[in-house]
Formats: sequence, structure tokens, C-alpha cells
Amino acid sequence: MIRLDHEALVAEQQKQLTSPRRQYSLSARALFAVMDLVYGKDRDLEKFRVLEVVARVPYMAWESVAYVAMTHTSRRTDFARRVYDRALVARFEQDNEQWHLLILEELTRDRRRTWLKGRVLPQLLAVVYYQLSWMMFVVSPKWSYRLNADFEDHAAHEYAHLVDEHPDWEGETFVSGFEGDYGSYDSLADMFRQIGYDEVVHRQESEVMMTSPRYR
Ligand SMILES: [Fe+2]
Ligand SMILES: [Fe+2]
Repeated sequence: MIRLDHEALVAEQQKQLTSPRRQYSLSARALFAVMDLVYGKDRDLEKFRVLEVVARVPYMAWESVAYVAMTHTSRRTDFARRVYDRALVARFEQDNEQWHLLILEELTRDRRRTWLKGRVLPQLLAVVYYQLSWMMFVVSPKWSYRLNADFEDHAAHEYAHLVDEHPDWEGETFVSGFEGDYGSYDSLADMFRQIGYDEVVHRQESEVMMTSPRYR
């Protein structure tokens, strides 16, 4: 995780607010439409929590595929090493998304959650998205990376707008049981800007893999 200071975080947020979104694929647009339908169009913290439940899933799928691949290619040292390095990145990003989720869980813990919208539907979305990411990766890794680049681009833009919509967060301190893991920030606004920047890094990583000559 690349930690930015306040000035750099503000600059990154501004960049997201003014930059165009990626041309989202059909599957990405379908996922965002379902999220809007179930959780509304407003940028509500509960919706971001659900977004983070789903966000870890492609990294879990890639890690699982990588371990299967290593089992069958362990004699080809170079290839196995490359696959292992990808598994490491997937594990690292999975953890990063996990901190996002735990922080969002913490910030929304006083909300009333229905069993269906709060627990069942997020898990259902995650299962479907996992299967889709896994199958796409097996057929063509490029497709799976593209879907994730779309997802991360959407998340990065949404976090930038979320902070923009809450000027009061600039003066609010970020107090969390996860500060030791995710870091301390000048304000709640900066903590959300850092999450948004993490999503930018995730998008960039997927874009690099998506355009890799290996997957053409
Ligand atoms: Fe995230
Ligand atoms: Fe992400």
C-alpha cells in the first residue's frame, strides 16, 4: 500500500473528480445497475460497505487459480515463479480490500441492517462475482483483469465524490480499531481519500495486466 500525505491525497481526489470514467464492460455495468437498484443511487456508507464485500472477490479468485496452476507447473520453475508472484499481489490486494471492508463495517455498525439487504444479498453478489471472475480468468485472464479495472475505476470515482459530498469530514478525526493496520490520518476525509487512492492503484495494476502481451 502506498501511503500519501494530505496534499497528495487531495490532488489524487481532484484528479478522480475531473477524469473520465473507463468505458465499462457489460458485466461491470450490470453489477453497478444491480447495486443502484438494491442500495439506491445515493452515496451511502452502507452501499460502500457492500462494494467492499464484493471488491475482495476477484483477488480471491485469482489467488485460487494461481495455486491450481502452480500445482501443475511446479516443474517449470520460471513459470511457477511468475504465477507465485501474481498470487502474492492478489493476496496483498485482498488484504488491502479487507481493511477497507473492516473500516466500513466499523463506521456503519450502528446502522440498522436487514438480514436480506445487509447480509444475504452482499454474499450472493460476491458469490456470483467470484464465479464470473474465476471463469473469465480461466478462459482469458485479460477479461477478468478488464472487469476488475472497471470495478476499481468505478470505486475510485465513487470515493472521490463521496468525500466531496461530505465537507464536514475534513474536521472529523478518524478513530478506529484498525489504525494500527491501515494507518492514522489527519481526518476522516483523508482516510477515505486514501481508500480511493488504493482503488486507483488496484485499477492501474489490472490495466497493466490487461494490456500485457502475454494475454493477447
Ligand atoms: Fe476497496
Ligand atoms: Fe480495490
